[in-house]
Amino acid sequence: KPIVLSGAQPSGQLTIGNYLGALRQWDEMQNDYNCLYCIVDLHAITVRQDPTALRSASLDSLALYLACGIDPARSAVFMQSHVPEHSQLAWILNCYTQFGELSRMTQFKDKSERHNNNVNAGLFTYPVLMAADILLYQANQVPVGQDQKQHLELARDVASRFNALHGDIFTVPEPFIPAVAARVMSLQEPQKKMSKSDENPWNFVGLLEDPKVISKKFKKAMTDSEDPPRVYFDQENKPGVANLLNILSGVTGKTVTTLTNEYEGKMYGHLKTDVADAVIGLLEPVQQRFKEIRADQAYMQQVMRAGAASAREHACKTLEQVNAAVGFVTP
Ligand code: AQP
Repeated sequence: KPIVLSGAQPSGQLTIGNYLGALRQWDEMQNDYNCLYCIVDLHAITVRQDPTALRSASLDSLALYLACGIDPARSAVFMQSHVPEHSQLAWILNCYTQFGELSRMTQFKDKSERHNNNVNAGLFTYPVLMAADILLYQANQVPVGQDQKQHLELARDVASRFNALHGDIFTVPEPFIPAVAARVMSLQEPQKKMSKSDENPWNFVGLLEDPKVISKKFKKAMTDSEDPPRVYFDQENKPGVANLLNILSGVTGKTVTTLTNEYEGKMYGHLKTDVADAVIGLLEPVQQRFKEIRADQAYMQQVMRAGAASAREHACKTLEQVNAAVGFVTP
């Protein structure tokens, strides 16, 4: 089976953006691929994290992966920091990545503006660590949201460059971008994407949030002042309404065109209530499963240890080949 690798940062609570843009596809991919799903804690510390909060968000993420359908009997689920080969390969790939290439990454520009008191080297070389994550497992496919496409392109470039110099060491990965609801936007500022680490909690909906809070967040979501208000899809001029339609389409499986017809003559309030209800319905069983899994510490530990052990088997093989290719002496 082809290999698939993906992960999310434990930099906050996973959101419906992470779910619709990533987790949901991860679940589906388990049938056809050999999947590895990690909690990328090494990536999370590119932005300053409170250690206690990071530990707890990492464990919450693990339980949420499982609650969303990731099955440890079929997929390796692990903490990135439990597999030291990620950092080792990242260092080597740093030496095969150009300063200019990294300077063009839009996420770096974006995050260095948002965290301008801590523009550290890790934030700059984040895409190289991501390339290492992928290339370490010789992944064929990488399910990524639209926002990570540029990073995957870089991973492909670095892999091809390394292969051209040293022979066919790395599989050059292909992106897998879902057609529907690939990008969920912020509820208050729908021009930017929904992020779990957003300072304003009204901008995102976390997977573990109380249904009452979810309803409130959607009720307050930014729409527009078209008079009379009309529900239709116009990304440019009506980004708030477009986002709500996208989310509802992602959750219900109905196309945006079908939804637009259904909301003809209805008010924004109708749409907001329906999106909230659909999201709450989607999350109810997830939250129930999360509670059970998160309470079972022994199970969680068993899953992450087995996941790391199985991931290391792949990782060590690749790293050995890479070490030999660059000319390191075999120990
Ligand atoms: N808003 C989004 N819509 C669709 N997909 C999204 N993803 C993230 N946000 C959205 C996808 O989720 C996966 C895991 O993302 P990540 O946690 O590794 O990093 P991120 O893209 O930086 O996510 P956040 O939530 O915005 O985190 P913070 O706030 O810490 O930066 C990826 O596949 C991503 O595409």
